[in-house]
Amino acid sequence: MAYLSEKEIIDKINILRKKLNAVILTHNYQLGEVQDIADFTGDSLELSMKAANTVADIIVFCGVKFMAETAYILSPEKKILLPVMESGCPMADMADADELRKVKAENPGAVVVCYVNSTAEVKAECDLCVTSANAVQIVSSIPADKKIIFVPDKNLGAYVQKKTGRNMFLWPGFCPTHMRITPEHILRKKAEYPNAVVMVHPESRPEVIELADEVLSTGGMCKFAKGTSKNTIIVATEMGIIYRLQKENPGKLFIPVSEQAICPNMKLTRLEDVLSALEKGRYEITVQENIRVLAKKPIERMLELSEKLMKN
Ligand code: 13P
Ligand code: SF4
Repeated sequence: MAYLSEKEIIDKINILRKKLNAVILTHNYQLGEVQDIADFTGDSLELSMKAANTVADIIVFCGVKFMAETAYILSPEKKILLPVMESGCPMADMADADELRKVKAENPGAVVVCYVNSTAEVKAECDLCVTSANAVQIVSSIPADKKIIFVPDKNLGAYVQKKTGRNMFLWPGFCPTHMRITPEHILRKKAEYPNAVVMVHPESRPEVIELADEVLSTGGMCKFAKGTSKNTIIVATEMGIIYRLQKENPGKLFIPVSEQAICPNMKLTRLEDVLSALEKGRYEITVQENIRVLAKKPIERMLELSEKLMKN
């Protein structure tokens, strides 16, 4: 490709998205310049709701593969494009369907709950899906006498277990990016900014969550930041969210707990890749139909429950 300036790339993206009736959905951890051209930026729950409801013919998903897969599972009639094929989620890859089938056989009658950060094959084995925005409420809605298998995030699982008191089998998966955040990181920033409020993502270690004032999804963090009267906010999650927080709240100060909390996969997508996705129709994400039909059920149940919870 001949060298194009950022403005030229953006102009081309704007022409193509209109011509192709495409929508650009972007996760809160994406690069700032990618967030800036998005039709919508949000957390996993918000993005899957948008994907389910959009009237666009093409969804360009700037995020990681399980998010694009979820969009396809909900809207197979649309073309779902992931601009960089290698942008996967290591935590999603920590659980596979064969292993899960074994755990299910060892726990007959258990309700199987997957975090949305999971492969389509794993979702196809599950009863209910959750995101970090709704996990506690959705698990609370399961009858109290039921054992729960929670896959793949042991940290989110442990947090939900603590909040709900449910009997849960926790799959030993984790997010390598959030695991880099330690209690010392938080304590250091708290000492530096004693009046700050601390927001923590529930993919973090239990010892880190312990130090939180607020435990929130990335979308929840954006809402909380707007609503709080506090001017200094310590943020324990992936660094990419700082861009949006600062942009939407110019008068407030956001302190990332660790500059090492960077998800390399979330940083792979550049504006050039979004343009190539639109120009070349790549990389198209699909899911085998028999898997898609099974994987759709837990996601749809989650969306139905979430909508009910939002109304109440
Ligand atoms: P949320 O944006 O849904 O809080 O999830 C964070 C995440 O790790 C996405 O991969
Ligand atoms: Fe996966 Fe963690 Fe990256 Fe999210 S931040 S995509 S959970 S590795």
